[in-house]
Amino acid sequence: MSQLIIRGGRPLHGEITAQGAKNAALPILAATLLTGEEVRLGQIPHLEDVHTMKLLLEYLGAKVTENEDEVVVIAGENLIHEASYDLVSQMRASFLVAGPLLARFGKAIVPLPGGCAIGSRPVDLHLKGFQALGAKVEMSHGAVAVQADKLRGADIYLDTPSVTATENIMMAACLAEGTTVIENAAEEPEIVDLANFLNTMGARISGAGTHVIRIDGVRELHGGQYEVIPDRIEVGTYMVAAAITGGDVRINNIVVEHVKPVIAKLREAGVMVEPDVDSVTVWTNRRPKAITVKTLPHPGFPTDMQAPIMALLTIARGTSTVVETVFDNRFKHVRELNRMGANIVIDDRRALVYGVKSLVGTRVEATDLRAGAALVVAGLKAEGETIIDEVHHIDRGYVDIEKKLLSLGADIERKGNDPLYVKTQHKVN
Ligand code: UD1
Repeated sequence: MSQLIIRGGRPLHGEITAQGAKNAALPILAATLLTGEEVRLGQIPHLEDVHTMKLLLEYLGAKVTENEDEVVVIAGENLIHEASYDLVSQMRASFLVAGPLLARFGKAIVPLPGGCAIGSRPVDLHLKGFQALGAKVEMSHGAVAVQADKLRGADIYLDTPSVTATENIMMAACLAEGTTVIENAAEEPEIVDLANFLNTMGARISGAGTHVIRIDGVRELHGGQYEVIPDRIEVGTYMVAAAITGGDVRINNIVVEHVKPVIAKLREAGVMVEPDVDSVTVWTNRRPKAITVKTLPHPGFPTDMQAPIMALLTIARGTSTVVETVFDNRFKHVRELNRMGANIVIDDRRALVYGVKSLVGTRVEATDLRAGAALVVAGLKAEGETIIDEVHHIDRGYVDIEKKLLSLGADIERKGNDPLYVKTQHKVN
């Protein structure tokens, strides 16, 4: 198991390029199961989670090949429809294969998913959607079996605008007979990316990016070529890393619209942010001002940025308030940040962050992906050495995090190698 070792206090300077979006790549890879033809995908990030999804596609019988720039998937006719427990239990997003398998083969058996430990994460909305499309849903031995002779379009209202439920239902509805309307759909950029991808394969989806999505079913989808959007959470994480160190960093290959909530909050905290056409520059030479952050579904402030921005606020002048409304147990980073000298008090879904002048390095544990990212951000500022354990969580979402930070002048090294890390270390940006 590897560790990240950071000797903090160096302002970050320079330029980096954002990776493709993990949360767009995962559903798009799952969606390749909707056709037997070849699909070529660009900007797929070399990450643990993506690797897990590729293994799952192979397990189901698809042929997956990759080179520096592209992942090529051919999900021919002889697929199996039962997903592997070992893979699904590693990553919650594996459940995204249920919709495509159901749509194309009329059946899917998928174990209940694992993934980051950030509160209760049911799949009831996915299943309600499948049922509304005419599928029979059964649970047995910890797995969900969905089956339908024919899917028929339906009006579906989501109680909560769940991102992956919207994606799963959208994929299933592509090949249903007639029209499906998803109301209170998630509006995240990754939903739009999936819809754009499906449309290039011949689907007929409109309204993605709004709370009402319409899917007119088609008989089949064909192959194609597509490039996923940049990763707005990775971008946001480097933005706060630049800010906490009092640095000056430009991040290329971004969609400015997607990082507007982060830009707004950083500016409120007194950090200088200058977006350009497809890049953003972040700089400051002062401690941030205390602010209030409340996570919400898009276009609100993303829950995936809650932990990283809290790391920045630990050294703010004054007391910040961070409210988590999306997940019910997403403050695991607080204990570790407090061990680094932060002063954060949790009150249910609200954290009061009493700003301190400085953080101190110590040995901490990445409990989940974004909590781990927060510890990296804090470590870049902390005096002395921060040792982060359980780095595999961070590798689920950030390609070559220490190489990018090294290129910006951070003092960071990795000790030990995890298997995937060895495999993908050729990829720098
Ligand atoms: C996706 C992202 C994750 C992000 C989250 C919220 C991927 C692969 N992951 O996760 O990084 O943190 O969106 O932006 O895209 N819920 C239900 N029933 C369901 C499904 C969800 O009650 O069937 C609830 C969840 O418990 C949670 C809320 O809906 O409170 C939002 O979760 P959801 O949008 O589904 O998150 P994910 O799609 O799992």
